[in-house]
Amino acid sequence: MINGEKILNQPIRWAMIGGGRGSQIGYIHRCAALRDSNFQLVAGAFDIDPERGRDFGVNIGVDPERCYKDYKTMFEEEAKREDGIQAVDVATPNGTHYEITKAALEAGLHVICEKPLCFETSQAEELEALAKEKNRIVGVTYGYTGHQMVQQAREMVKRGDLGKIRIIQMQFAHGGCNVATEADSAAQKWRTDPKVAGPSFILGDVGTHALYLGELICPDQEIESLLCTKQNFVEGRQLEDNAFVLLNYKDGAKGTLWASGVNCGSMHGQKIRVIGEKASIEWWNERPNQLRYEVQGQPACVMERGTDYLYDEALADDRIGGGHVEGLFESWANLYRRFALAMDACDRGDEEFLKDFWYPSVHDGAQGVKFVNKCVESADEGSVWVEY
Ligand SMILES: NC(=O)c1ccc[n+]([C@@H]2O[C@H](COP(=O)([O-])OP(=O)(O)OC[C@H]3O[C@@H](n4cnc5c(N)ncnc54)[C@H](O)[C@@H]3O)[C@@H](O)[C@H]2O)c1
Repeated sequence: MINGEKILNQPIRWAMIGGGRGSQIGYIHRCAALRDSNFQLVAGAFDIDPERGRDFGVNIGVDPERCYKDYKTMFEEEAKREDGIQAVDVATPNGTHYEITKAALEAGLHVICEKPLCFETSQAEELEALAKEKNRIVGVTYGYTGHQMVQQAREMVKRGDLGKIRIIQMQFAHGGCNVATEADSAAQKWRTDPKVAGPSFILGDVGTHALYLGELICPDQEIESLLCTKQNFVEGRQLEDNAFVLLNYKDGAKGTLWASGVNCGSMHGQKIRVIGEKASIEWWNERPNQLRYEVQGQPACVMERGTDYLYDEALADDRIGGGHVEGLFESWANLYRRFALAMDACDRGDEEFLKDFWYPSVHDGAQGVKFVNKCVESADEGSVWVEY
């Protein structure tokens, strides 16, 4: 159980890039990072508008001298300080992730980067190699994977409770973009602009979350080939707002992934169903405290978070005991705890710890980039099967 006790001798000195006033995702990064005192927010380049960024930073308690006009200045100035930053968060629009993450690694910093890590598979490979060369951790905020019941699902698959895996059904299909929301929302505008969002809208924006959920719960399933069909239902939209993907896994299992912004009436619609030869499990992020477990020939069962019958690995991520409701903030906090432990182990050179410790890593981020590119390739060639 997590109860906020100190796990590191000193909190990691941490800065944010982006995540400023009015941003969608900055607040949850801060709530998650600061929850267990593993990180301390000491600096930032919070906004594309330097004045607004400074004002925001001061408002949330950051030293005015350490609210920088841009990330380059921040890296330069912080490097001169004895108490300079050790890790940085990249919470800016997609088109900036590659250059900022690269610059941060070159400055010797650990990085927590928003998804997608970058646009091109070659860039992702470069970042993965650079992180290795610089011996730095790059975590990617696939923020739904810190939920306890996801950990329980992973353990059930690992222990063979479902039998051999046959089918993985993944979806992240919401209805929030069923009309041209980009017309009056800056955050939606960049998401559908290929120059900022990259080669895809909905696959990169939400499909990668669903993919990583599948990868985390079923780590032994390697994609062999995929076929994708994608559409843009909203007139004038440059990138797809709906996509279906079929997946062949190397051991014969099959998968489907549906990413959508036009699933009217659905809030998030992120679900995963893993079907084995004996039983299935199903998890839905709008009911994150429950996991359905259905054994063929028996009544279906709903497992609850924080209960004694869960595996130890899931209970270890519990914060308030069963019955109370935990949600996205706890999931993110659990991930940030993992990022802190990984950074600390890296700094101490503890390879042994890192060997079996999972967190959404630069490799996982790179897999998301590869997935998006392969989907686009398949769809653009007329929805053909492409080798993975
Ligand atoms: N992990 C998740 O669940 C999740 C959810 C939402 C968004 N995201 C990702 O988070 C990122 C940000 O998304 P958002 O919805 O918060 O976007 P947003 O448009 O709401 O906010 C972006 C913020 O970054 C700032 N910014 C832009 N360029 C900058 C630069 N060069 N330097 C400093 N600050 C800069 C903006 O001023 C703003 O504060 C995206 O990559 C998005 O895909 C992830």
